[in-house]
Amino acid sequence: MKKRKLRSRLVFMRITSEKMLVNQQITIFNPTVSEILPLPFLKPMPSDTILIIGSSGQIGLELTDALRKIYGDDRVIAADIKKSPNEKGLYVHLDALDFNAIARTIDRYKVTQVYLLAALLSATAEQKPKLGWKLNMESLFHVLDLAAEKKLKVYWPSSIAAFGPTTPKENTPQMTIMEPASVYGISKQAGERWCEYYHDRYGVDVRSIRYPGLISYKSPPGGGTTDYAIHIFHEALKHGSYECFLKADTMLPMMYMPDAIRATIELMEAPADKIKIRSSYNLAAFSFTPQMLAEEIQKHMPDFKITYAPDFRQQLADSWPRSIDDSAARKHWGWKHQYGLSEMTTDMLNNLKTIAVNNPVSFNQ
Ligand SMILES: NC(=O)c1ccc[n+]([C@@H]2O[C@H](COP(=O)([O-])OP(=O)(O)OC[C@H]3O[C@@H](n4cnc5c(N)ncnc54)[C@H](O)[C@@H]3O)[C@@H](O)[C@H]2O)c1
Repeated sequence: MKKRKLRSRLVFMRITSEKMLVNQQITIFNPTVSEILPLPFLKPMPSDTILIIGSSGQIGLELTDALRKIYGDDRVIAADIKKSPNEKGLYVHLDALDFNAIARTIDRYKVTQVYLLAALLSATAEQKPKLGWKLNMESLFHVLDLAAEKKLKVYWPSSIAAFGPTTPKENTPQMTIMEPASVYGISKQAGERWCEYYHDRYGVDVRSIRYPGLISYKSPPGGGTTDYAIHIFHEALKHGSYECFLKADTMLPMMYMPDAIRATIELMEAPADKIKIRSSYNLAAFSFTPQMLAEEIQKHMPDFKITYAPDFRQQLADSWPRSIDDSAARKHWGWKHQYGLSEMTTDMLNNLKTIAVNNPVSFNQ
């Protein structure tokens, strides 16, 4: 009995000291460029327990890590249909299409927040349209229904793919024409409508960001059209060259993963009255073309060569915005990006070089 009391006291002390640290600044990522991320208004509720569905993916891995640093390992449950080899914490095998399994997990761990990241991404959903629609929509309904019933806070990401060929491409406004041309984009646009509906009709505290293309060195890309901007770094370091599946002048909005993770957590931690948009927020950092990125890499690797062989993904990219107006996110909950093209390129190359030296087997897979 005494031992149990001591243990819970120690856990409480650890959580408390972590929360105090969070209120000043926290080190979330491995310390390279601007890895000390100030999260000024972050005051996590000690009672929150978070379930991340789709935790083994590109965003899930890093978000799980970041949330565990804030809330503690015992408050963040990773869930996926495939366990990441890097997963060292609390993990459950969970199918996002299985309503009862999600409900059981929520009850068992007394979950108060759900991050739903499981989805079929743009390029993969074009190959399997019906599965893309089913997974992306049914999983969202399951989580929104459970949130309405159990009063959960929900995070669900949308995408720039929710826009379409008739959307104004430059500085795309928060509210504008949205006629998405891909299965993935249609599922994101419909998902945004349902999020707003569940908020307005059932009072669900659901929050969302329309992510641009996300670039990260920590995990392999998951089948998106903007993934060329990750492959290019791997190929540059392995072979000194890259064949791009988009045309040289395809301008797309992009963001470095540390910024995306910080935005996600800041949005979720912002007071509810600051969240004035319950469909999904535009979010931006910088835009570039494959040629601009290649030139940036050539500043570090002058012999790097790029060639172009556009495939079916070109049509997807051509239907998306070239740049995004994210002034609503900046005004409502204080969003501010930190990384530009050159900082991101330097950081990607430095980190991938370190991984190639320390872990050549995984780097060359
Ligand atoms: N990565 C980007 O550039 C980007 C951009 C815009 C929006 N998004 C959105 O962010 C979310 C996460 O994207 P990501 O890049 O991490 O995707 P990802 O493909 O890397 O990861 C998705 C994860 O979901 C898991 N998953 C698939 N089916 C599942 C199921 N039935 N049950 C449980 N888990 C399942 C997969 O195993 C995978 O680990 C998605 O909603 C995506 O649409 C991503």
